[in-house]
Amino acid sequence: MSQIPFYDAAAIASAVSMADAIELMRGAFASLTRGEAAVPLRTNMPLEGGDCALVMPVYLPASGHYGVKTVSVNHSNPARGLPRLHAVFTLFDAPTGVPLAAFDAEFVTALRTGAGAGLATDLLASPGPKRLALFGAGHQAVTQLQAMAAVRELQEVVVFATSAERAAAFARAQSAHYPFPLRAASDPAELQQADLICTATSASAPVFADANLGPVVHINGVGSYHKGMAEVPPATVARALLVADQRSACLAEAGDITQAVASGTIGEQHIYAELGELCAGLRPLPAAGQGVSFFKSVGNAVQDLAVASQAWRVLVARAAGQGEP
Ligand SMILES: NC(=O)c1ccc[n+]([C@@H]2O[C@H](COP(=O)([O-])OP(=O)(O)OC[C@H]3O[C@@H](n4cnc5c(N)ncnc54)[C@H](O)[C@@H]3O)[C@@H](O)[C@H]2O)c1
Repeated sequence: MSQIPFYDAAAIASAVSMADAIELMRGAFASLTRGEAAVPLRTNMPLEGGDCALVMPVYLPASGHYGVKTVSVNHSNPARGLPRLHAVFTLFDAPTGVPLAAFDAEFVTALRTGAGAGLATDLLASPGPKRLALFGAGHQAVTQLQAMAAVRELQEVVVFATSAERAAAFARAQSAHYPFPLRAASDPAELQQADLICTATSASAPVFADANLGPVVHINGVGSYHKGMAEVPPATVARALLVADQRSACLAEAGDITQAVASGTIGEQHIYAELGELCAGLRPLPAAGQGVSFFKSVGNAVQDLAVASQAWRVLVARAAGQGEP
């Protein structure tokens, strides 16, 4: 077997822009909803001391590729000066099983998670300039911001994090990339002016109060991924037009939704649509700009495969001196 290339963040970013990734998500989510993608349940392999490796296979016949994302979670790594998570996505040619390439899956994950929120915002938020409130100042916050800037003209961004210093450092660093003002915020009253909210936090309880929201707002929540976590208050979930990346996964894993269901605040049928149903025309697109809409993402490996597959095509064509596919 010949060596396979490893594509790092810079190589992937040179092949798939955020705008490209948002377009790729349309097809990926539509395939997921139509049952065209095989996404077996992820395997959690326990390691020593509470560490684990998560193994996520995915096959999309239309792409001709399948892949496996492996994420290691090693809690003592920060004390060793290493990141807590490492992730690699391995891409295979489906008809032959030949391994094609490995990818920095921390970057792929951040890119596709931002892109999912970007697509949802493009479908659910009204057109026109927007003010964004961003909760979280970590890896995912970077690509949430990129995605919002890709689909809407942003007038101003306010950043909330666990500390004012963290929010200010994030705002300073990101300001260099954008023409609009970015600043740290701590007063929840500022949410009244937000047309878009992205929550990309590790919070276990809602990060804002329903009463702080303005009358028309679109929210993307990518953080809470198990029943013990939440970012969006049940009262907001209850009055929002709710779109899930995948119904079954959100009803099983997303604390924002499972807690609202468990308390009787909403029923399972409160989820209006899966994102893929909107993309595939299986559910009508709701009128944008009316009240609150909420896109809840727990993430799906089909998103990783869509990005890795396209990045591979572009990078191979480029290396062969051919035009972009
Ligand atoms: N939906 C998906 O597909 C997907 C993909 C990857 C990661 N995630 C999840 O997204 C979340 C963020 O990931 P990350 O890699 O950016 O993490 P990170 O650790 O880099 O950053 C977490 C951020 O959350 C902030 N935060 C925590 N509690 C907060 C609160 N109450 N208010 C405001 N900010 C708060 C922290 O200040 C920090 O900036 C995690 O829960 C992660 O598991 C989801």
